Amino acid sequence: MTYRIATIIGSLRADSINRRVADALIRLAPSNFDFIDVSIGDLPLYNQDDDANQSAAVLRMKAAIESSGGVLFVTPEYNRSIPGALKNALDHGSRPYGNNSWSGRPAGIVGVSPGGTGTAIAQQHLRSVLTFFDMPMFGQPETYIQWQADLVNEDGIFADGSQAFFQNWMNTFSTFVTRNLVHQKG
Ligand SMILES: Cc1cc2nc3c(=O)[nH]c(=O)nc-3n(C[C@H](O)[C@H](O)[C@H](O)COP(=O)(O)O)c2cc1C
Repeated sequence: MTYRIATIIGSLRADSINRRVADALIRLAPSNFDFIDVSIGDLPLYNQDDDANQSAAVLRMKAAIESSGGVLFVTPEYNRSIPGALKNALDHGSRPYGNNSWSGRPAGIVGVSPGGTGTAIAQQHLRSVLTFFDMPMFGQPETYIQWQADLVNEDGIFADGSQAFFQNWMNTFSTFVTRNLVHQKG
């Protein structure tokens, strides 16, 4: 079977280091895993008044999540939490009440930052939300990554010293998804 993983990048920035890491990581996936990029930059600001009439962008995102067997979050840390764009996407996907698109899908979190804390605090905040969604959370190995200019080379491949770590992360994460798969539409 082919496993579809929805990939959510928490940064909207064109030259995002988190997107570069996500792209390099996805290259290490098993051949029966498809990683689908789910954009969040076109979502309106969440407003509960719109729950009964969600916009096309919201419906598109919810359908992409629901057709996936797991979710990979790769996100920066903003002011010791997750970026507002990511929280906005999480809120949209959780509604309308009783129709939470995230629920039950196994989730992995990766984050990279130029700072030494490597997005650790943002990841803890994200875990809190995803636990509320009842998403099985991939725990080990943790990925609190401090960005170095040579972490990902011009060909989009991890530096030699990091490649084995990320390959192990991907191998372990993909096994975790297969063991925790609840539903994958289509
Ligand atoms: C609004 C804002 C808040 C930030 N807060 C943090 C922070 O709390 N911790 C941290 O390590 N880096 C922080 N940074 C620096 C980001 O880690 C850095 O800009 C990084 O490149 C963002 O990831 P991206 O390249 O994927 O967009 C912040 C950046 C911005 C723009």
